[in-house]
Amino acid sequence: MKVFRLKKNLKNQITSLKKAQKSIGFVPTMGALHQGHLALVKASLKDNEVTVVSIFVNPTQFDNPDDLNKYPRTFETDLALLQNLSDDIIVFYPDAQDFYDGQVASQSFDFDGLELEMEGKHRPGHFDGVGTVVKKLFEIVQPDRAYFGEKDFQQLQIIKKLVEKEQIPVDIIPIPIYREADGLAMSSRNKRLTTEHRAAAPYIYQVLKQAKTLFAYKNIEDVKEFVTNAMTAHPLLKLEYFEIADEKTLKPAKQKIAGNKYRGFIVVYAGDVRLIDNIQL
Ligand code: PAJ
Repeated sequence: MKVFRLKKNLKNQITSLKKAQKSIGFVPTMGALHQGHLALVKASLKDNEVTVVSIFVNPTQFDNPDDLNKYPRTFETDLALLQNLSDDIIVFYPDAQDFYDGQVASQSFDFDGLELEMEGKHRPGHFDGVGTVVKKLFEIVQPDRAYFGEKDFQQLQIIKKLVEKEQIPVDIIPIPIYREADGLAMSSRNKRLTTEHRAAAPYIYQVLKQAKTLFAYKNIEDVKEFVTNAMTAHPLLKLEYFEIADEKTLKPAKQKIAGNKYRGFIVVYAGDVRLIDNIQL
């Protein structure tokens, strides 16, 4: 397995792959890999001749320095997990100074309002950071296809918008949310949960599933009230927000319009760990 730290070395490798007309699949990650990430890598291995995985805890997308410092870093284990899938994966493990040419800062983007909803409201600057790093990664890796999880559904829609607006020639492939057997959406941050909070966390998906059932015959306000009450009743979990939004615009839905698709989006704190999940309604 090849590991690149400097972007110029990876660029050289990509140039020769392009000359040989190899199709390139790309999976950007922040490491602390789990089965959810590996589902993206497996899809890429299936569709492409070459797969590139980046592992980079991107400082510009963290609005909270404590979250950045505590973000799990498990590079050796990550490599072993990837190696187990295929020896041919190319790993990009950049150093922030080299990656950002010494200027670790975000560009600002207009994603037609997608960046102003939900995570955009609660994590100022987050999507500028994500847009900046993903745009740069696309320039370096030049993938034919790039894989993103529906776990971060707003991020996925923003990346689609980035590619459309910047006219980047890449197909964005969405991958469904991968869950633990008890329903908790897999996340690198789950590693930081205490035993008690880990035991409580599957409640989030149980409530989301109930919301989906209710959505079939209740109005939107009633479903939102149900989720708020259910979360408030839990002694260990603290609701940051629950929103029902249109899948395309991500604007909060007031009433159901036939033909539109809706999703429920939730963020919950379990202790100091911020958990994010969503469900198609
Ligand atoms: P990270 O949180 O490491 O996630 C990398 C990719 O894995 C994202 O596309 C995310 O949606 C997907 N993913 C994470 N958990 C998943 C799960 N349980 N099921 C399915 N997919 C899952 O998202 C980021 O990193 C960063 O913002 C990044 C795009 C790499 C830019 O820095």
